[in-house]
Amino acid sequence: MSQASLRHLLVTGGAGFIGSAFVRQRLATDPDLRVTVLDKLTYAGSLENLAEVTGNRRFAFVQGDICDRAAVDRAAKDVDAIVNFAAESHVDRSLLEAGDFVQTDVSGTLVLLEAARRYHHERFLQVSTDEVYGHVANGRSREEDPLAPRSPYSATKAGAEMLVNAYHESFGVPTLVTRGSNTYGPYQFPEKIIPLFITNALQDLPLPIYGDGSAVRDYLYVDDHVRAIATVLSNGEPGRAYNVGAGAEVSGVAVADAVLELCAKPPSLKQFVTDRPGHDYRYALDVERIRPLGWQSRISFRDGMRLTVDWYQRNDAWWRRRKETDFWTYYRRNYQGLPSGAIPK
Ligand code: NAD
Ligand code: DAU
Repeated sequence: MSQASLRHLLVTGGAGFIGSAFVRQRLATDPDLRVTVLDKLTYAGSLENLAEVTGNRRFAFVQGDICDRAAVDRAAKDVDAIVNFAAESHVDRSLLEAGDFVQTDVSGTLVLLEAARRYHHERFLQVSTDEVYGHVANGRSREEDPLAPRSPYSATKAGAEMLVNAYHESFGVPTLVTRGSNTYGPYQFPEKIIPLFITNALQDLPLPIYGDGSAVRDYLYVDDHVRAIATVLSNGEPGRAYNVGAGAEVSGVAVADAVLELCAKPPSLKQFVTDRPGHDYRYALDVERIRPLGWQSRISFRDGMRLTVDWYQRNDAWWRRRKETDFWTYYRRNYQGLPSGAIPK
C-alpha cells in the first residue's frame, strides 16, 4: 500500500459544507500540515464556515474559480496535492438549470487536473459521490460497477470522474476518487433534506417530502466523511476509487420523523409534495475496499442527528442568513404548488 507524505494541500471548494469540515479537521489533527483553500464563494460557500481556522498561520484563503486557469496555476504551483471539493452540489438546482454544473463540476475539474499534471503533484483527490452509480434497486454498489448517473448533477460528477481516470491512465497523474454517500452535519446549506427539514421545523414551516417519502439514502455524518477522505489521501492506491458510506438506509419519512421528534414539533408539519423528476429511490454502497486502509464510520444516524439538530438550534443566525430572499425565490421555483403558509410572510 502506498503512503503519501503531504505537507501542503490545495483544498478547492474548502469554504463549503464538507470542504470546510475537512480543513477544520485536518488542521486540528496534523500539526505540520499547511492548507490553502481556493473557493469562488458561490451561494453555498462562506468564510464564516472557516472562521475557526482563519487565524491559523498554516492556513491561507484565496477567492477564485477553479475554471480560471491563471488563478488555479497561482494557487497550485507550491502544493503537494489538490483535494477537489468544488462543485455545484444540489440535485434539485441541477434540474432547474444545469449549465453551472457542467462548467464547475466538469470543466473546472479539467483545469485542476492540468495543474496537477503540470506541477507533478504527489496526489489529486476528487471528491465524488455515490450518485454516479444511479438508482440501485438491489444489493450494494462496488467500485468496479458501471457508472449510470440519472440526474444532471450526477452526470457531471460522473463526467469529472471519467476525466480523472483519463489523466491517471494517459499522463500518470496519481489520482484518487472517493464516492461518498449523503452527508449531513453542521454548516450544511439549508437546501439539502436534513438542514432544510431542521430549519423548517424550527420555523414551524411544513417539511416537503417528495412523493411518498420512501426513497432511501445512506446518511453519513460529516466528520466520518472527511476522515475517510483524509485516509484515502494518505493511504489510497493511485488510480482507484473508494466508496464511503455508513450503511444506514433511511427513508425521507424517517428523516422527517427524526427531525420532528428531536425538535419537539408535531407530525402535522409533514407535507407530501410532487416527486423529484428522475428521483433515484435508493443508493447503497459496499465499503469493503476502504476498510483495510483503516476507516470505518463511527457516528450512528441517531447520534449524528442529535449533534446536527443541536448545532442548528445554537446557530440560528448562521442559517437564517442563508434563508433570505434568494433562497425563497429558489424554493418557490423548486416546490411548485406549495400550500399557503409553506413560506414565511
Ligand atoms: P457545497 O455546495 O456545500 O460546497 C461547494 C463549495 O464549492 C462552495 O464553497 C462553493 O463556493 C465552491 N464552489 C462552487 N463552484 C466553484 C468554482 N467554480 N470554483 C471554486 N469554488 C467553487 O458542497 P458540499 O456538500 O460540501 O460538497 C462538496 C463536494 O462533495 C462536492 O464535490 C459534492 O459533489 C461532493 N459530495 C457531497 C455530498 C453531500 O451529501 N453533500 C456527498 C458526497 C459527495
Ligand atoms: O448521495 C450523495 C449526494 O447526496 C451528494 O452527491 C449531493 O451533493 C447531495 O446533494 C445529496 O444528494 P441527494 O439528492 O440524495 O440529497 P437531498 O438532500 O437533496 O435529498 C435526499 C433525499 O431526500 C432524496 O430522496 C430526496 C429527498 N428530499 C429532498 C429534499 C431537498 C425530499 O423528500 N424533500 C426535499 O425537500
